[in-house]
Amino acid sequence: MSVSPVVVPAGDFGRAALGIFLEACAPFAAPVVGLATGNTPIPLYQALGEAVRARAIGIGHLRPFAIDEYGGPRDHPCSNRAFFARYWDSIAGAPAVGQFDPESASASREAARLGATLSTAGGLDVVVLGIGLNGHLAFNEPGTERTRGAHAATLRAETRESARACWGAGTPGWGLTLGLKELLQSTRAILLASGAAKAEVVARALKGPVSRDCPASFLQEHPALTVVLDEGAASLLT
Ligand code: GLP
Repeated sequence: MSVSPVVVPAGDFGRAALGIFLEACAPFAAPVVGLATGNTPIPLYQALGEAVRARAIGIGHLRPFAIDEYGGPRDHPCSNRAFFARYWDSIAGAPAVGQFDPESASASREAARLGATLSTAGGLDVVVLGIGLNGHLAFNEPGTERTRGAHAATLRAETRESARACWGAGTPGWGLTLGLKELLQSTRAILLASGAAKAEVVARALKGPVSRDCPASFLQEHPALTVVLDEGAASLLT
């Protein structure tokens, strides 16, 4: 499938992403939504919060799931749990996010638990994804099989390097993640990328070969993918 991204100026990124997110959720009475963390989706959650505050929309009907979590202390300020507390739970009426517990005794059982909970909920109706500089989706690092379900993953050096900006010397070496299986089985997928630093990996993911070397390239085969980019992230697409 050839992917035609929505490209917007950086200042419009949050609003554009919100429009696509709401449109993707609209057909479902109680959409199961997979939510990314990281810098990229912050403008989306901020725009969502503004829309709720303006009473333009409500989000009480969403059934949100985190797509991943760092293998660090649960309440660390750089955990995804802390991210959701800051950017999601602060929105009036936001339903609690189904999340991984990185302090559970068995990481693999914990990954399977959230995968099973998601599956009982019917799987993802809509998933919001960011992309790692090495092409990862959630914590599905290069080399991950596209059929792999939720699992505990060893983080690649590049991923730890990006995480170091927040985690510093305590950067976790592993994470919990929904698998490519759950992410790619979503009814609708939304890939977000912003900034020129993502331009190369975005081009590789959308125009390069579909391969485990770049997990995000599997999105080319997704039947209902929307890509939202700012001009920087789109700058290497011809
Ligand atoms: C992290 C997360 C991903 C996220 C990616 C990009 O490693 N596991 O879910 O999409 O990095 O993050 P950012 O948006 O901060 O560039």
